[in-house]
Amino acid sequence: MSRPKVFVTRKFPAVGLERISAQFDTDIWEGELPPSREELLKRIQGCAGVLTMLSEKVDDEFFDAAGDQLKVISQYAVGYNNIDIEAAKRRGISVGNTPGALTNATADLAFALLIAAARRITEAHDYIHDGKWKAWEPLGHIGWDLEGKTVGIVGMGRIGQTFAKRCRGGWDMNVLYTARSPKPEAEQELAAKRVSFEELLEQSDFVSVHCDLNAETRGMFDSAAFERMKSDAIFINTARGSIHVQPDLIQALKSGQIGAAGLDVTDPEPPAVDDEILHLPNCVVAPHIGSATRSTRDAMANIAVDNLEAGIAGKPLRCSVT
Ligand code: GLV
Ligand code: GLV
Repeated sequence: MSRPKVFVTRKFPAVGLERISAQFDTDIWEGELPPSREELLKRIQGCAGVLTMLSEKVDDEFFDAAGDQLKVISQYAVGYNNIDIEAAKRRGISVGNTPGALTNATADLAFALLIAAARRITEAHDYIHDGKWKAWEPLGHIGWDLEGKTVGIVGMGRIGQTFAKRCRGGWDMNVLYTARSPKPEAEQELAAKRVSFEELLEQSDFVSVHCDLNAETRGMFDSAAFERMKSDAIFINTARGSIHVQPDLIQALKSGQIGAAGLDVTDPEPPAVDDEILHLPNCVVAPHIGSATRSTRDAMANIAVDNLEAGIAGKPLRCSVT
């Protein structure tokens, strides 16, 4: 019997690739950049499973191009806003993601961005490289303290709670949050308080985004939201760029409506090299690296392959979103 066909849309950790090629007729996109739409639709033809990244738009056109034997989409990410889940459900195609594995790494990166923004690390780094460091400066590079501040977490899922734990345990911060449902364990362990979005904006010194991108959260950080924030507040987004309205964020950072920002996600992503978001002294930007540690990426690869195998075998996925 011929082996089921699988397309992997980018090279990903060897632990995962080796498991896939050992079992399936495997085609891997070797490019450093994602395949073009045309190339993608061609390569998925006849596949039983496709291992996708967040760069691939998975929709009816994709499913039509793949054909009726397609059983599973295994997304190598926790977020799956690139996938039309309703369309997958209608066609009985399973969709899996990789939650849990990247929780610590992403919470750590949110903290790295918070400290970098608060202590103006990238600005200070550039200052040295520009040859401006002449002496210790009693009034130079003054930033923010973290200890005892109020942090507002938007989306208190696994990553939000883990970030909150670091804020509470390490810096004794007060934790406010918004979420669709109350999180009793976070309220008990972290003395976290569920508040309205408006209260969170008004009371937080630091606001960190940890929710999914969906119709409700798209653009929720717009000029009205930034206006409600404290004028020295720091905004952190490690979730998805479209949750903030980027021109409004740029304006808020330039006008002093808020103090600083740390972003691991932008809109568009990637931004053009001359995009203003990359050239503001009070904005630290990383290229979507929340899950980028060796053990995290390996763990994600194993979950993604578990999902792929189960989907092709017609079994329930280890981590299913359908
Ligand atoms: C990365 O952004 C992910 O969703 O895993
Ligand atoms: C991701 O793992 C989350 O639910 O926060």
